Amino acid sequence: MKELRTQVAIVGAGPAGLLLGHLLERSGIESIILERRSREYVERRVRAGVIEHGIANLLDESGAGQRMREVGLVHHGVEVRFERRSHRIPLTELSGGKSITVYGQQEVVKDLVRLRLDAGAPIVFDAAVTALDGLSSGEPTVSVSAPEGDVLVRCDFVAGCDGSFGVSHHALPANVARRHERTFPTAWLGILAEAPPAAEELIYCRHENGFALYSMRSPTLSRLYLGVRPDERLEDWSDGRIWDELSTRLATDEGAVVNRGPILERGITAMRTVVIEPMRYGALFLAGDAAHIVPPTGAKGMNLALADVRVLAEALHESIMSHNDTLLDSYSDTCLERVWRAQEFSNYMTQMLHPSFDDEFENGVQTARLRQLVNSREAATVLARSYVDLNSL
Ligand code: FAD
Ligand code: DHB
Repeated sequence: MKELRTQVAIVGAGPAGLLLGHLLERSGIESIILERRSREYVERRVRAGVIEHGIANLLDESGAGQRMREVGLVHHGVEVRFERRSHRIPLTELSGGKSITVYGQQEVVKDLVRLRLDAGAPIVFDAAVTALDGLSSGEPTVSVSAPEGDVLVRCDFVAGCDGSFGVSHHALPANVARRHERTFPTAWLGILAEAPPAAEELIYCRHENGFALYSMRSPTLSRLYLGVRPDERLEDWSDGRIWDELSTRLATDEGAVVNRGPILERGITAMRTVVIEPMRYGALFLAGDAAHIVPPTGAKGMNLALADVRVLAEALHESIMSHNDTLLDSYSDTCLERVWRAQEFSNYMTQMLHPSFDDEFENGVQTARLRQLVNSREAATVLARSYVDLNSL
């Protein structure tokens, strides 16, 4: 079997694994990124779209933000819509001058893959990690099934950045890992459409039929979501039905419209939330979705993943370059504090905006929360600060 040796083996070329590889490369630390899928696949996977203020700065300062700054859309506010009326939350005004950048996750992935290839640093696509061993013995190994045959990677550290369906989190022994999980009684049907967005800012909408979200990727591309039942099948949603339902939910008394166009991509995502504690076992460090999933309302998933690897890159640098393990030892606690804050925010947003179909008490509470949000500057300020920059608070 072929053997390779590196300082840090990174499992997964999502936003977390790619940014970690980039930050390590810049600080002179060797890594190999191992990715189960092809380059085309990871670059086409349509997912998140909102980048927080501090995370946009992180990408910029690390030299990965050039295209994001050129074509990303900077937003200073967000709309909350319910009872057929829209209310603007002035994010920048309420957060001391901060803003969000709307830039697709797959664009972040493309930028980071290009940087890595330009730097000549190793990234192996179509390479599935099958096992992690020796994590507590001081001699970690990563077993990989690659197109040219099986490979064994020997390393000092393993970064488990392989998302919620990866193998890394299973490497935490049962008597070490604590897993906290919840499934919501809803899913999101998301589309990407060739249609100029009819609104300049994102719209989070609560309607008695369900949740809707109006987002975008560019002046000609709209990204929209509908809250649907978890067992809903994509085949049952024709283009016409999707657009009609979006128009119904997003309608206002002022006559707001939804611009229609060809649907380029569509999918249904179940909504669940997970936290795995601790985020470390021996030489293995979990980052991003491998350690935690938040419900998507609030757009925190990718931001959390990138914030984890900012902490991890610095901790690995201190350990490898200065033989100081203090930051590595506190990695899990440092990240989990932020992760739980993001869980609280994402759950608050989710519960406020997804109506219940059988619990009128819940619906009364949701509406009261929304009214408080749009009538109280204090409540709006709390939301604005978390929405714009939770990972730097
Ligand atoms: P991922 O992006 O999942 O990357 C993990 C990588 O590891 C993948 O490329 C995977 O192929 C690879 N991998 C897995 N197993 C192995 C293995 N055994 N060997 C090698 N490689 C492996 N967040 C939002 O904020 N807004 C959204 O609208 C939104 N939509 C989403 C839709 C979907 C369908 C999903 C799954 C997530 C969505 N998220 C959204 C969450 C957000 O996209 C994630 O939080 C983000 O992708 C986390 O990045 P990551 O790098 O941790 O994990
Ligand atoms: C998008 C996704 C989200 O989960 C969100 O809260 C806002 C925007 C998006 O894909 O654009």
